[in-house]
Amino acid sequence: MEMQHWHVLIGRFSGVIAGIFGLIVLVTSEASASESLDRIEALRTEIARHDALYFQENAPEITDYEYDLLKLELRRLEAAAGIPTELDRVGDDLTRGADQIRHTEPMLSLDKAYSEAEVADFFDRVARIAPEGVVSFSLEPKFDGVAVNMVMERGELVSAATRGNGEVGEDITDQIEAIEALRYEWEFDATRPRIERIELRGEVFLHDSRFEELNAARSLAGQALFRHPRNVAAGSVKLTDLAEVASRGLSIVLHGWGAVHPIEATPPSVMDFQRWLERVGLPSVWQTRYVTVENSAELNHAVEAYRESFSGYPTDGMVIKVDSGVLQKELGHGPTAPRWTLARKFRPTRVETVLRNIVWQVGRTGILTPVAEFDPVTLSGSTIRRASLSHALEIERRDLRLGDAIWVEKAGEIIPQIVGVISHQREADAVPYVIPDTCPACGHELLKRSEGRELLCANFRCQEQRIKRLLHFVSNDALQIQGIGPAMARRLILTDTVDDPSDLYHLTTAQLVALPGIGDKTAQDLLIRIEASRARPLERWIVGLGLPGVGKGGAKALAVKIDGLRDLLDEPRRSVALEDFSSSTAEELSGYLDRREVREMIERLSGAARVP
Ligand code: IVH
Repeated sequence: MEMQHWHVLIGRFSGVIAGIFGLIVLVTSEASASESLDRIEALRTEIARHDALYFQENAPEITDYEYDLLKLELRRLEAAAGIPTELDRVGDDLTRGADQIRHTEPMLSLDKAYSEAEVADFFDRVARIAPEGVVSFSLEPKFDGVAVNMVMERGELVSAATRGNGEVGEDITDQIEAIEALRYEWEFDATRPRIERIELRGEVFLHDSRFEELNAARSLAGQALFRHPRNVAAGSVKLTDLAEVASRGLSIVLHGWGAVHPIEATPPSVMDFQRWLERVGLPSVWQTRYVTVENSAELNHAVEAYRESFSGYPTDGMVIKVDSGVLQKELGHGPTAPRWTLARKFRPTRVETVLRNIVWQVGRTGILTPVAEFDPVTLSGSTIRRASLSHALEIERRDLRLGDAIWVEKAGEIIPQIVGVISHQREADAVPYVIPDTCPACGHELLKRSEGRELLCANFRCQEQRIKRLLHFVSNDALQIQGIGPAMARRLILTDTVDDPSDLYHLTTAQLVALPGIGDKTAQDLLIRIEASRARPLERWIVGLGLPGVGKGGAKALAVKIDGLRDLLDEPRRSVALEDFSSSTAEELSGYLDRREVREMIERLSGAARVP
């Protein structure tokens, strides 16, 4: 049954997806030499494209697992055809123009295992040289974030860099220092040999709860949701706005070391290293499990049992490490990866369900986001009913049709994703999905931007946009008016009690108690909170305007340049205020600020604001 689905999927998707599942075909079919050369060429192109999406744009289109399978297929084809592989290089995250730092010891990658048999092979290789064939391992989550190399000297952070190409990384010292979670007390103790300088390898990542908070805020602000916590981590460590880096709530763990000075102070085992981290107050891999095993079955058993305990942070597998430093040294390393460690990757769980509907959510700025709704299914312990699709074109690319049987997956991803259509189950009368050309909320004609990727409702008075703008205005980063949640905002707008945020400042108790579920006391409390918000600082009022491309950092920068909201409407004050923005953002902002509705809203709001 399962196998049948895979085969159907192979026929279903062209390009990428075909490549992913091509591996399975490979086992059953005999490709001719020229076919396999063609395939090698196609895979190389495809992998290069995904490398660029992942490393340069932070916008992967496929899951890591799918990517790994592409690479695995390529390696096997190359080996069979006797062609040297071009794959053996570490991915490159270098951005042009950024300062670079050379790692003292190169940052290698990890060999990967996709099955128990591969773990068993690894064990056998290690056990062959281990005393009596008994080996101690550390088992650790493979954190799915962005790799970092930090140099610490006598308790001080000297520098921090991304992995880059493995030899040279990008300087992210300031960003790492801005991470709130990295507060340590490295007492320089007198015991010898003591570590004076060490290269620490770790992972910057986002806890699931923090990722959800960030996305909840973005959803309120009408901004596109982050797809994956890893992309947020990777993007955040390269931001130049350090306040923004701090506000992302990043976490960090340290899982390894590079060069150590003096060399005699090198930790004798993984366990000793982790204990040292704890002692000096640096973030360790707190959930590491240590096991001592005599055979590969025991190791696999421990791996499977431990896997269950990963929760609350994104992972993309498990790292198995030989604990003993002596044994590690003996095993050494190959061209790209150490021989003493292995990343065990697991096939993400996917479930089958039926696509019932595609709804379009209208954001504050009028951008429409498609959300797929399907029959409820249980994945990693939670019931899910919907998955957001990245943009309108994804529907066409996948040819999603209502009533289709689909695969839904949560691959270390918090947001579930549709990963395939089971087309042989498609009803004969299923019709292609028609992308709407009018706004589902207000009926206004939609604009297409970015080659059809983005659908936009340009009606400033669209009720959904007004609701989202109001919610954004009262949100914590803006005017912080508690008591107006989504239901209340909807009521205020749909009953015409509030037309735009400035109307909050003219509300009366009588108007509020006329709404269902609002009593005298609630109404009065709300009015007091609204009144108090008049005195919020200018930057919060700027955030509240919900200008496209202006977050907390941008609002702060603008607030320094202007004396009041009205200055945004005034030349040349406005040009001066926009000087520090990129020319494309400045242009978009000017266009927005020139809209009559926006000018009117700003006029009204500046009347309400009581800012110095
Ligand atoms: S040890 C020689 N331990 O995985 C490499 N790496 O594919 C030794 N990673 O970018 C790495 N969690 O940053 C190790 N518990 C863990 C890890 C881990 C995540 C990352 C690492 C590297 C990637 C290698």
